[in-house]
Amino acid sequence: MRRRDFVLGALGAGLASTGAFDSLVRNDITAQAAFARGGIPYGAAVRTDLLDTEFDYKEAIIDHCQIVVGEGGLKWIDLRPSQEQFVFEQPDRLIDFANRNGMQMRGHTLAWYGAMPDWTKTIASAAEAERELVHHITTVVGRYRGRIPSWDVVNEAIAETPMRGSVIRNSIWQERLGPRYIEIALRTAAAVDPSAQLVINDYNVENPTPQCRDRRKALLDLLRSLKDRDVPFHAVGIQGHLPGDLEIDREGLSRFVEDVKGMQLDVLVTELDVIDDKLPPNEYDRDRIVARRAGDFLAAIDEAARPSAVLTWGITDRYTWVPMWFKRSDGKPNRPLPLDASCRPKALMKVIDEFTRAAE
Ligand code: XIL
Repeated sequence: MRRRDFVLGALGAGLASTGAFDSLVRNDITAQAAFARGGIPYGAAVRTDLLDTEFDYKEAIIDHCQIVVGEGGLKWIDLRPSQEQFVFEQPDRLIDFANRNGMQMRGHTLAWYGAMPDWTKTIASAAEAERELVHHITTVVGRYRGRIPSWDVVNEAIAETPMRGSVIRNSIWQERLGPRYIEIALRTAAAVDPSAQLVINDYNVENPTPQCRDRRKALLDLLRSLKDRDVPFHAVGIQGHLPGDLEIDREGLSRFVEDVKGMQLDVLVTELDVIDDKLPPNEYDRDRIVARRAGDFLAAIDEAARPSAVLTWGITDRYTWVPMWFKRSDGKPNRPLPLDASCRPKALMKVIDEFTRAAE
């Protein structure tokens, strides 16, 4: 049974929704149906250009996803070729695809250190940086007001390995504005689209390592400081790029999610994949370890709070960012995602389906 038929079948179960979830799925029947069944919408990052060139890729997204997010398209590097330009073709194409297929679209991302066009290096002062950031968010969030219900407003704000004194990662925004760029971004997004779910998205909080422990603490400190100043935001995105060779810190991750929930924040899994560069070469063995890591990760989060969405960063091994940084020494293709390179479900898809479909 196609996932979508399953979800639509849930429609008869009546639609339920809670405030925590409304902003993401208010207008999306399929996701509300999934939610009504006690389920959690699943989605994936999409390479929008492939929707018009690869039928099996498009069908796999339609078969499995209730949410899509552009892998590119809404990053500055794609959107802003120059200080004067906004290029919206890609996100416009993706939101049209989402609407035609009863899906929600997430926006990724408004303030990040990465994928910045060269011209932004010329931003010379705090005043200019604030003007550019506010103008960008006002224009982009304004264009999709009411149509993109959830935004990664701030992406990867925490330093790679937070040490004393350098907790916030360097970026043009941090350099020119300091940490207050985060508040500026969130307040601007909230003012432009008060109905949008505003998310602070980050990574490497899942393992029993000093780095993950420090990043969990740094992220919680940031969240608390923002909440203490009544800065508007609603959720934390746990990216979930899981090192396949490291166990999940079930206690540390659950406690982190407990603390996030304690601040009346939702949790989303935003970019799940399992980095298998250090896993055995045998595909069957590798797929099972990948699935187990993801299962442990989702279970650890769920012990404290049900995530309001689970997205993978891509859906098929044919297109994944993982080999950009984590190529396998044996030259074998990475297998980090729920579908194999021929878009056939793997053990990871089964784990995600079972987790997201489980009734309340
Ligand atoms: C990655 C994309 O997958 C690549 O195609 C691109 O070249 C670089 O960015 N965390 C994030 C994503 O939040 O935006 C990154 O996506 C992967 C890591």
